[in-house]
Parts: sequence; C-alpha cells; structure tokens
Amino acid sequence: MEKDGINTQDVLSMRGAGYYSERTAGARNVINDAGAMVVAAIDDLPNSDTLRIADYGAADGGTSQQMWNMVIGSRRDAGDKRQVEMVYTDLASNDFSTLFRMMQGMQGDHKHAYQNNFENVFVHGCGTGFHKQLMTSASLHLGFSATAMHYVSAKPMEIPNHVHAACADAVSKLAFAKQAALDWQNILLARAAELVPGGRFICLNFGIDDEGRYLGNTGGKHMFEHFHKIWKALYSKNNITKDEYERATFVQYYRTMEEFCAPFADPNSEVSRAGLVLKSSSSKLTKCPYKAAFLNAGGKMSSMEYAQSLIPTMRSWSETVFKTALKGRDSSEINNIVDSFYQSYAEEVADCPEGHAMDYVHIILDIEKSIA
Ligand SMILES: C[S@@+](CC[C@H](N)C(=O)[O-])C[C@H]1O[C@@H](n2cnc3c(N)ncnc32)[C@H](O)[C@@H]1O
Repeated sequence: MEKDGINTQDVLSMRGAGYYSERTAGARNVINDAGAMVVAAIDDLPNSDTLRIADYGAADGGTSQQMWNMVIGSRRDAGDKRQVEMVYTDLASNDFSTLFRMMQGMQGDHKHAYQNNFENVFVHGCGTGFHKQLMTSASLHLGFSATAMHYVSAKPMEIPNHVHAACADAVSKLAFAKQAALDWQNILLARAAELVPGGRFICLNFGIDDEGRYLGNTGGKHMFEHFHKIWKALYSKNNITKDEYERATFVQYYRTMEEFCAPFADPNSEVSRAGLVLKSSSSKLTKCPYKAAFLNAGGKMSSMEYAQSLIPTMRSWSETVFKTALKGRDSSEINNIVDSFYQSYAEEVADCPEGHAMDYVHIILDIEKSIA
C-alpha cells in the first residue's frame, strides 16, 4: 500500500469507535435493501455442511449488522441449522475491536447482535485488503461487499486541481481508471479462487450510472465540487500550503457500469476463464436520508440542524483524506483546520439548504462462480 511514501490505508480509513456506522444511515439502508437478494442467493447455493460468508470492507460492521441478523434469522426460520462462519474483512487499520464488540452486543444496537441471537454463528475478522485472496481456495459460499470497492489499492498520483477522480482532468482520470481496472480484475480473480463452485459474490459498489450520476452528484449541489472549493479557499487564504492542497486526493474511482461489466463481457478474459459469470447488474439511487428527514420535518428542523446532521455523514468517510493531507503538522493544528473545513461546509448548507444532500448511487452486481 506504500506508494511514493503515501500510506493509502491512512487516507481511506473510516473514523473509528463506531462513529462511522452511527452516522451513515444511508449506507445501512442500501445494505438492508439488498437483504432479499442475499437471502435468494443463499437459497440458490449448492448443498454444503456449513455456510461460510464474507463481508468485504465491512468497516465497524454496524451498517450491515441488521441485514446479517435478518439473513441468519431467515435461514434459521427455514430450518437451516448449519454452522455459519462470518468473515469480516477490512484493512489492517480498521477498528475491528468495535466490530467484535458490536457483534457480541457490547456496543451499538444489541437487538441486531446476531452472535447472541443465534447459536452456531462464528465471527472472524481478516485485516488484509480485498485485492488479494483472503481465504483458502474454494471455501467461501457467499461473498458480499457494500460501498467499499471504489477504493483503489494505491493512489496513482495526486490530482493537481481537484480532490476526486470523478471531477479530475483527463490525465488524472486516466491514471485512476487504469488503477481501478487492474484492481477490479484482482478483486474478481481473488473471489474466483475463494468461492466454491456455485458460490456467489454480491457487491453493491459506488459507481456512475447511465445518467452520469454518482455519490453527492445527483442533480442538486455537487458534494465533491464543494469539498474542492472549500479546500482550495483554505489554500487561497494561506491556511494550507500548495502541497497540502494537492495531497487531498481521494484514493477512489467510481467505475461506470461498462467498466464493471467489461471482464464478464469477454469470454476469454482472465475473469471469465477463472469461472466467474455475471448473473445480473443494475444501478440504484438511494436518496439521502438526512435530506428526507429535513423535508419531512416540515419546518420543525432548522437549516442549521439539517447541516449538523448532513455534514457528519460526509465527514465519517472523508475526513481522513484531509487530515492525511496535513500530515507533519501538530495534531491540534490538523484538527482545527479540518474542523474549520467542515464548519464552512455546514455554514453553506445552513445558509441555503436547497440542493444540498448526499444521495448514493450504486452499481449492484450478482456474480456466480460457475460449477463446471
Ligand atoms: C465506506 S466504508 C463501507 C463500509 C460498509 N461496507 C458499508 O457499506 O457501510 C468502506 C470500507 O472499505 C474499506 N476498504 C477500503 N479499501 C479496502 C481494501 N483494499 N480491502 C478491504 N477493505 C477496504 C475501508 O477501510 C472502509 O472500512
């Protein structure tokens, strides 16, 4: 993960101690909505003595916990008493301690602590990145991943005039696109090795839909343009240096549907030859729950209260990018700058909430490891 002295793990980790899942209702909704698809895929699996499931890029596990509780519950209701092994994967820098506490009902919403709710469920963690094979060959029945595989394994370059590849100049965009294509191939080949014949991999990834929409850019005010504008203003006011301005580059790439599907379209690609088949693909827009709550409050919520609910959800996954860009400064100085950055965004939302939101755009793929 080290490239040009940059540890990409620092740049992309979620804020720990449960902050991530407490403030990401949208991510939880996306996962809960996929529950029926997961149940149907498990129904379709070939017979096996045990059921091994992996949740790749699970962060603190809080956003998918309700869905897994529902899925395991539905297996038990159907009379399926098999032992279930749940493997949570994320980067070594992830807060696995919070994850294990949540699954045992020691933190978060203990209603969904399925390790307590059901017998014969075994929870494990794996701190190796998902671009590699993580489990023994042909041992995984169902892989799942939500909102994680837009992270590329290495930052190919700093984007000189923006914070995100989706809005970058052509040269930067191409560099990220190449990295993302290689990473996608590696992700798929690793899953092909791990899955049993007939096993499934369901992933809900951030991406760009056919209308060109992506996270925070769905017709209203553009979130990444705001991030950039406010970060650049700090540079213009000499609050940060040029290097710090440029180092705020998200280690992410939003693939298009075509980019996601390309390895499956060619029967001679390495991915097809490894036995992976795309069963279905679709895109989905999930409306920002914080915006919906603001609109539903019908005047009972002030625009400042709305800003104070919306900005933390953006901050939960983006602040490490800005903090890392300031590396080398005293930590209190870093915190002050980053606090002022999000405060400026909150003030803009409070002044004029119209159009501010963080709608999600996902590309949903259901992939099977063929039996033959
Ligand atoms: C936005 S969070 C999504 C968490 C959760 N799956 C959800 O949908 O709410 C993205 C997660 O992917 C993880 N991640 C990023 N790159 C990864 C990699 N190469 N291997 C494993 N996890 C990774 C991050 O550390 C983070 O926890």
